[in-house]
Amino acid sequence: MTETLSTRVTELLGVRYPIIQAPMGWIARAQLASAVSEAGGLGIIETSSGDLPAVRDEILKMRDLTDKPFGVNIAMLFVRDPGIVDFVVDQGVRFVTTSAGDPTKYTQQLKEAGLTVFHVVPTLATARKAVDAGVDGLVVEGGEGGGFKNPRDVASMVLLPLVCSHVDVPVIAAGGICDGRSMAAAFALGAEGVQMGTRMVSAAESPVHDNWKTAILAAAETDTVFLNRYSRPGLRALRTERSTRLEREDHVGMEEFGTILDLYFGGDMEASLALGGQVMGRIDEVKPVARVIEETVAEFYDVAARLGRFVAPVTADQ
Ligand SMILES: Cc1cc2nc3c(=O)[nH]c(=O)nc-3n(C[C@H](O)[C@H](O)[C@H](O)COP(=O)(O)O)c2cc1C
Repeated sequence: MTETLSTRVTELLGVRYPIIQAPMGWIARAQLASAVSEAGGLGIIETSSGDLPAVRDEILKMRDLTDKPFGVNIAMLFVRDPGIVDFVVDQGVRFVTTSAGDPTKYTQQLKEAGLTVFHVVPTLATARKAVDAGVDGLVVEGGEGGGFKNPRDVASMVLLPLVCSHVDVPVIAAGGICDGRSMAAAFALGAEGVQMGTRMVSAAESPVHDNWKTAILAAAETDTVFLNRYSRPGLRALRTERSTRLEREDHVGMEEFGTILDLYFGGDMEASLALGGQVMGRIDEVKPVARVIEETVAEFYDVAARLGRFVAPVTADQ
């Protein structure tokens, strides 16, 4: 069968499918990212853990595990090393997403070094600012997604068509996507690629403790909380006793992340905050990444074909 899922995103990234694995501190490392790249999507390595020697090792591991393209994320909120751009450029990566910060800060330097740069945006104003800063594309992230968020969150259903009708650069949709049905919806709204976060936390190759994966499978669509609605940084996480207690606090500081690695890898779900999106209500099985991607692509074609039967009637004066 001829592959027809080519978009400006697949062309820019050199991948088979426009399906990107979200960057996630400690989680988006070689074990998960190489499985995604090998399956035809794009794996991304995180830097938000701040542990750059570990990140360097993970990038080396990526090169052993796959010869396919992959990217790196710079989440500005977590940058501790002022030399982060040089660090990323020195690793020889070709694709970077920048997030949680001002797009004018790193774009020029990354572009001058020859990298392809997408910036993550939660609003139309930030999308315009990123385009003006010279990015190659945008990751447009709806407020239903997991992780750090603009406190004035806007759902993908509104944000995607809004941004896509005002910019010309290719858009990767993030927030609420876990399968072909949601991917087709994102394409209908103007996206040319999708990024999955929560779906990838719960993938077989994700390194997190099984307790976290099981909690995602058990969660309903109502089982996330939005913290710091009237403060910063906003964030969406799994509903637990800890996050429910914090939900009504005026300000939740970073110290509330407690001992994050005890949750991520020790499985103590009350030790920290388990970032995750509303889409966890649609995830009910731990699957290998290759199956997630295969099934997403098959279902995407299926939905596109079903929609293709709606053809505008020809009227007499046409
Ligand atoms: C556990 C977790 C950690 C995340 N860490 C980052 C990060 O370091 N950098 C970033 O740009 N986005 C981060 N995000 C947001 C994701 O990149 C992605 O855009 C979001 O998860 C998409 O929504 P979804 O969860 O509905 O798929 C994180 C999300 C989760 C669930």
